Amino acid sequence: MSATSDTNERSLALISDDSALVAMTKGAFPTGKGQVLQVIEKNIQNVGAEVRELNCTALIIDMDASKVTDFEQLQKIKRMAGPACALIVVTSNFSPAAARILIQLKVSDFLIKPLQTSDLVRACNNALKKPGEEASVEPQFLAFMPASGGVGTTSMALETAQILNKYGRKLGRTTCVVDLNFQHGSCAEYLDIEPRFDISEIENAPERLDRQLLDVMLSKHSSGLSVIAAPNQPSEMRSFKAALVVRLLDLVSAYFDYVVIDMPRIWFPWTDTVLVGSNRLFVVADMTVPSIRHARRLVEVISQKVGNQSSAKVLVNRMDMRATGSGLNAKDVEEALGDWYAGGIPNNYRLVRDAVDRGVPLEEIEAGNNVTGALSRIILADQADIAAPTAQKGGLMAMGRNLLMRKKA
Ligand SMILES: Nc1ncnc2c1ncn2[C@@H]1O[C@H](COP(=O)(O)OP(=O)(O)O)[C@@H](O)[C@H]1O
Ligand SMILES: [Mg+2]
Repeated sequence: MSATSDTNERSLALISDDSALVAMTKGAFPTGKGQVLQVIEKNIQNVGAEVRELNCTALIIDMDASKVTDFEQLQKIKRMAGPACALIVVTSNFSPAAARILIQLKVSDFLIKPLQTSDLVRACNNALKKPGEEASVEPQFLAFMPASGGVGTTSMALETAQILNKYGRKLGRTTCVVDLNFQHGSCAEYLDIEPRFDISEIENAPERLDRQLLDVMLSKHSSGLSVIAAPNQPSEMRSFKAALVVRLLDLVSAYFDYVVIDMPRIWFPWTDTVLVGSNRLFVVADMTVPSIRHARRLVEVISQKVGNQSSAKVLVNRMDMRATGSGLNAKDVEEALGDWYAGGIPNNYRLVRDAVDRGVPLEEIEAGNNVTGALSRIILADQADIAAPTAQKGGLMAMGRNLLMRKKA
């Protein structure tokens, strides 16, 4: 037993002379909060007995998998680090033969350059986890995009996040809301928290955004939700570089299991990227002919642009279930949207308004309310479809599954 594993400290070490990898690892694993990072800033060939002093739980080793000498060195380091130390290999040159050797050497994981922060963090967290701790799961991205203005996109995104936050916590999973309406988002306002994502600091240097900076720029809601929202700049027309959005989402995906994105209605240069990266995509419409038409056009465009990976569905908000004489009724909406119809959310003005005015989840205003109920069936049905098989499938989940079966039939 190493000294470090007796304490609660999760000790990580890195051997690399690649300054970009060193910076990325330092950014992702700042020492503190029960976590230690040691760095040997050397080429693998120049590393010697200092490895014995590391006493770490997991060791990241940067090597060239096309060099036999690097493999010899890797074996030496493995012996010195001891059997309790998990090895994560990062390599630029990769081949099936190299993979076979790494598997034989029983490394915990191997990653290929250029690598994403989220991949590095996941590999390290899995290697650092204590016995009995669940392996970190692939994060799920759920994006909400408005078909027209004021249809309830933000309300649906936030309530979805609350549902996932509640459900996910039982599974040890965390949820973050990202408000990509950088210019005039309302997530922070609706939750009555201070928006802290200061874009001006990192706009031109997205690589500066690391774990520590992210921590500073995250807002926390009393429900346990984490939120990334920028202070409103109503008088400025700002456009944000795709690199910043990609960097932000990569980083967020490293630390959260569910990421709920409130998308702007305008199609930005980075919109495609976000949509391609989303596991679930909801176009939010309301129960009017123009909005349903906009929604249809939008899902069509999304399917064309994003292709088959897209699972864009239309969520019809403020749905009136009564069959009224004039205008749309629920059946018309379902027929117009066909397979694209994700479901309808009841109109409950007082409930949603009260929640927004008080900055709390709908469930806190009224337990068992119809909006959260309808949304849970849709969201958790999707989760039943994609979540880990170990997920507890309770009442709502079962209902969700039934709904899913009905939809597929
Ligand atoms: N299911 C609902 N029932 C009644 N009112 C709703 C519902 N969902 C949203 N609203 C209301 O609709 C308005 C617009 O919602 P918002 O979430 O800000 O939409 P968007 O983000 O699309 O602009 C808000 O006043 C909100 O309270
Ligand atoms: Mg909004």
